[in-house]
Amino acid sequence: MPDWLYSGPQKIINIGEVHLIEQQGFTVWMTGLSGAGKTTIARIVEAELLGRDLKIERLDGDVVRQSLTRDLGFSKEDRDKNIERVTFVAKLLSRNNVGVIACFISPYQAVRDQVRAETTNFIEVFIDAPLDVCVERDVKGMYAKAIAGEIPNFTGVSDPYEPPVNPEIVIHTDQETPEESATRIIGYLEEHNFIPTAIGAVATNR
Ligand code: ADX
Repeated sequence: MPDWLYSGPQKIINIGEVHLIEQQGFTVWMTGLSGAGKTTIARIVEAELLGRDLKIERLDGDVVRQSLTRDLGFSKEDRDKNIERVTFVAKLLSRNNVGVIACFISPYQAVRDQVRAETTNFIEVFIDAPLDVCVERDVKGMYAKAIAGEIPNFTGVSDPYEPPVNPEIVIHTDQETPEESATRIIGYLEEHNFIPTAIGAVATNR
């Protein structure tokens, strides 16, 4: 078998003539404004990877905030605690060979750097959409309320968002479809051998 197939972080299990590639854990961390498209893209990536029989967990701010972090609000201190707890979960999953797809506004660079330091194979994905596009979309009707002053500390309106300094992937959701964005993320995972490509899967039985 060609060596290049097995460069990168994949572990190979040899059973006689059969070479199995063990799934690697990774942490795809999507950060961006509310309404930028994080959840939409994450769902497509999740479905595609589950369809390839990979172990995947999607962690989403809107869901996690109804359970694990339901006691938290949106002050800087509470946002930091929110991400700190999620980081703990992502750390356990990713080090046990699960692919984590996380979508959180996570507005502070220092906290995202902490996630990078603690999780396995961290990939920072900046889901970038101009604020006026997010306001225009206003999927949940929250921007209208935030602009009217009815929701305090709303990211992009009355609370800061620090764009990633050095993200692995930048996605402009006002310039490409969610499917195109998802394909780019999956392409990145394949190129870096975090997931097998179709060719790699065939070659495992040689
Ligand atoms: S984070 O800042 O702590 O990372 P998280 O991603 O978990 O935020 O939650 C963001 C979601 O909470 C938004 O998509 C929105 O639906 C809701 N939300 C409610 N209040 C706010 C607020 N003040 N700022 C941002 N999002 C808010």
